[in-house]
Amino acid sequence: MIVRRSAIELDKLRRSGLLVYRILEDLKAMVSEGVTTRDLEIAAEKMIADAGAKPAFKGYYSQASGVKYPFVLCTSINEEVVHGMPSSKRKLKSGDIVSIDTGVQLNGYFGDSAVTVAVGEVNDSVKRLLKITEESLELAIDRVRAGNRLFDICGTVEKYVTSNGFSIVREFVGHGIGTSLHEEPQIPNYVDRRGENPRLKPGMVLAIEPMVNAGKPDTKVLSDKWTAVAKDGSYSAHFEHMVAVTENGPWVLSRP
Ligand code: MF3
Ligand code: CO
Repeated sequence: MIVRRSAIELDKLRRSGLLVYRILEDLKAMVSEGVTTRDLEIAAEKMIADAGAKPAFKGYYSQASGVKYPFVLCTSINEEVVHGMPSSKRKLKSGDIVSIDTGVQLNGYFGDSAVTVAVGEVNDSVKRLLKITEESLELAIDRVRAGNRLFDICGTVEKYVTSNGFSIVREFVGHGIGTSLHEEPQIPNYVDRRGENPRLKPGMVLAIEPMVNAGKPDTKVLSDKWTAVAKDGSYSAHFEHMVAVTENGPWVLSRP
């Protein structure tokens, strides 16, 4: 069942979304050569605590990995697709891209958003990967309208990404979000005909998160049990927003 949130609940999700937005803006401003992903983690942990919120990822148990996730951020560099772990040994350098993904819980309601940024100078094909991935998210957001169906969102990302020569990661998906980090429905970035295709209704809140590889779509998880990488070592980009269905169209909760 996909939960439909009341106006009061949407306001709470909005607060969580805006907190995640502020954190990501601050972290984006920190990204430069020589900064470690551990530096980003420390800054994020402080911002979450100062806001009176709790991290949504730290302590999160995943069936797939069988262990709790130990950090407030996922920092996924270059060929890392998602769930890269902050480390004092990972210094950002020019030419890298880093996906910064974070989630919070504030007054019982979750926020979740991600952005991928370039470090220093990256080449044109990498710039294009970031641009196409972000644009696929924007196009999908515009489909978050009452009366549309889930596959409208999935298909929009899939078509735009593949027609631009990139590939869609299939092992990880977006999700509903509310009083849990992950709620129904699952939101693949491709049309999965084995899945259901519910109609979107006002009050539903969707975390849409395209994960796009420059090369082949296949991924594997490293021996640390979390870090998912592109098998062929190609660069991978990831953007995420939480979006509410309203009578007046999409409401992106994770940006002003
Ligand atoms: N944005 C990702 C998601 O919504 C990050 C989850 S990391 C985890 O699934 F640690 F919480 F699993
Ligand atoms: Co998410």
